[in-house]
Amino acid sequence: MVKVNKNYGNLKENYLFADIARKVSEYQAAHPEANIIRMGIGDVTLPLCEEVIKGLHSGVDDMAKAETFKGYGPEQGYGFLQEAVKGYYESYGVSLDKNEIFISDGAKSDVGNILDIFDKDNTVLVPDPVYPVYVDTNTMDGRNIIYIDANEDNGFLPLPDEEKKADIIYICSPNNPTGAAYNREQLKKWVDFANSNSSVILYDAAYEAFIVDEDVPRSIYEIEGAKTCAIEFCSLSKTAGFTGTRCGYTVVPNTLSFDGFSLNKLWLRRQTTKFNGTSYIVQKGAEQVFTEEGQKEIRANIDYYRENAKIIMSALDELGIKYTGGKNSPYIWLTCPNGMKSWDFFDLLLEKANIVGTPGAGFGENGEGHFRLTAFSNHEKTAEAMERLKGIF
Ligand code: MLT
Repeated sequence: MVKVNKNYGNLKENYLFADIARKVSEYQAAHPEANIIRMGIGDVTLPLCEEVIKGLHSGVDDMAKAETFKGYGPEQGYGFLQEAVKGYYESYGVSLDKNEIFISDGAKSDVGNILDIFDKDNTVLVPDPVYPVYVDTNTMDGRNIIYIDANEDNGFLPLPDEEKKADIIYICSPNNPTGAAYNREQLKKWVDFANSNSSVILYDAAYEAFIVDEDVPRSIYEIEGAKTCAIEFCSLSKTAGFTGTRCGYTVVPNTLSFDGFSLNKLWLRRQTTKFNGTSYIVQKGAEQVFTEEGQKEIRANIDYYRENAKIIMSALDELGIKYTGGKNSPYIWLTCPNGMKSWDFFDLLLEKANIVGTPGAGFGENGEGHFRLTAFSNHEKTAEAMERLKGIF
């Protein structure tokens, strides 16, 4: 008889955002007149910028002509996009070899798939609260997970703890869900900790494009020593509106080796076996993100979302509600008013103000009593949501 992966039985029944989507559609079905404003899942609303659209069109045209048609592409991504990503890293002082850059269909897949190259016996350290994918993918493999507290006392930026050593350490900065971001000195502590314990850091930099503070690194490789302990995941989803288009990249330095194996070679072996590369057309679009004009256009979109974050923060300031994030991040992580629990606050906002957010408890025990709002709506809806919020408090 077939034996299934019983570790799936240890997962919560639904993925957090699937659960929220179901609740919201049930509410909408029962209240068709409700004008719901969605600030839950971090999904972008602005269309792809003109440069990207031009790139996509040129990819389509190439596919229409025998001379430029592409079949299977390189599993690691086309050289033109690897070069573009390499140039982007160089723009903030990080030098990479082209073969250290792996193009993919997004950070979420890579963050999950990377676990293929690690033994199931490794212990995993994740902050609590945390992006649920880190916990769920390790639970699926049956790995032992330990948690480090992120809370108001440490500004939601926990630092290494000698009592909590692990083989695989997850760091997301700017953080999902809290929006807090490590500065250089703090990140250096994690890099030193990982190097001294022979741990690997899985560094999720999906929100790097939102960083404004000079002292917050855009890449972990800005920190000395990171190339012997860290893999970095990045995505064009939030940076350039690719949530539906799908493209990201993962950096696995050649200097990263454990147990006598080069992680770069293992990941290449894994990708060439299980992945046939991101579509050529999408990579042509992605290439344009890194041109001068593309950067100008995506920066304008990010600025637009930043304005939304400001609208949210100023409403929370007015209401005296505490929060982190919103500055180097599209997420605003607030403390639920009047000591409310996260899911109660979720229900209240949905029912009384027709606003959807994400209950902090969905990100871990320490998320209880907190709530995440995203800045990815449009100005009008964001402002309207904040007026509604003020109306109920
Ligand atoms: C989120 O809302 O946390 C993100 O959109 C989820 C993701 O990027 O997969």
